Amino acid sequence: MKKAVYPGSFDPMTYGHLDIIKRASEMFDELVVSVLNNQGKTPLFSVEERVKILKEATKDIPNVRIDSFSGLLVQYAEKNDIHVAVRGLRAITDFEYELQIAQTNRKLSDGKLDTVFLTTSLEYSYLSSSVVKEIAYFDGDISQCVPDFVAKQIIEKYDKKRS
Ligand code: PNS
Repeated sequence: MKKAVYPGSFDPMTYGHLDIIKRASEMFDELVVSVLNNQGKTPLFSVEERVKILKEATKDIPNVRIDSFSGLLVQYAEKNDIHVAVRGLRAITDFEYELQIAQTNRKLSDGKLDTVFLTTSLEYSYLSSSVVKEIAYFDGDISQCVPDFVAKQIIEKYDKKRS
């Protein structure tokens, strides 16, 4: 069985992420989308909230499983017997960072964890979780960036922060 992991912060998941999830799910028997529990960052959404959003957004894709992890991706991959990581590339600016992570993971895993890059669909190439949060923070329209149920939760978060 060909398994892959799509790791990320997903704070929050955008249409760009969803596009990569859908396309990667067609390439593997099982795609595990795993949310990094990064203690060093202060996210807008908790890991549990991010997992819930991803579960809701992917509920109609049977071979997608949502999970979370802490620590190194190579450790998580080894524990789950996964040998491929999937990442999206939006532009050349992503490349240097992604190449470094991919090469680090290959080195750390003794070649057991490879990375497959999918180029983001052009319509989402401008999108990032940070951009979505900034637009929402300033009351801009994020309906083109995230599903409606996610937009609602982002707006609620900022409303709460402001009150
Ligand atoms: O969505 P992001 O924040 O760009 O995802 C980055 C992620 C989660 C893929 C990367 O930071 C990661 O895998 N972190 C886990 C720690 C790790 O394995 N580090 C070694 C590679 S530099």
